[in-house]
Amino acid sequence: MNNLHRFINLPFIVDRPHQFDTIKLPDLPNRGLTIKIEENVIDKRILEWLGSYGITASKFYEASNTIPGGAVCVHLDTDQLSDMTKFIIAWGPSNSGTRWWEPKKDAIPRYVTYWENGIEIEKLVQGDYKCELDKRGNKIVTDSYLGYEPEQCDLIYEKVLTYPSLINAGRLHSTFNHGNEDRWTISLTLLKDKNYLQFDEALEIFKDVIYE
Ligand SMILES: [Fe+2]
Repeated sequence: MNNLHRFINLPFIVDRPHQFDTIKLPDLPNRGLTIKIEENVIDKRILEWLGSYGITASKFYEASNTIPGGAVCVHLDTDQLSDMTKFIIAWGPSNSGTRWWEPKKDAIPRYVTYWENGIEIEKLVQGDYKCELDKRGNKIVTDSYLGYEPEQCDLIYEKVLTYPSLINAGRLHSTFNHGNEDRWTISLTLLKDKNYLQFDEALEIFKDVIYE
């Protein structure tokens, strides 16, 4: 089995947050971006349920939006390869999802990500970089990360995420959307004893409720 993704059985159904209908996003071509969201967008039952497994979530809650034909660029949620685990729920077309990549030998990181008016913008730059996110007074676990152009990487796994999932966000990943409506996700960075929950630990802790 892979160390990138598992579906996870939640004992309840989480509706798509109504807030997504009114969030204003920049009109970018091939838009795929991640924004910080307030805690009240997150269904409290998720946090309680994770807590019953001794797992908490970083207070830095995120949502991603990928328009038809768009993509969130190939990136890590950390500044180096790791096995950090995120919990995500996606709402969108059945031909949209997440891809995982491996950098080719000698691949050069090329994307920088920054925050503008509370919105995380991805911008292509030349050469190496390592950036820090504007903390804006938020408790952030992830404070910098890096990405690559897809041409610098090999695709290793692809999944339509129509059910709640655990993902390994410490490996290069991106989104795709071949449908005709927006894809939205919420994602929580999972913590155990205030440290990143490692993907193999997550598989063990949630072994009775994960599949595929
Ligand atoms: Fe990510």
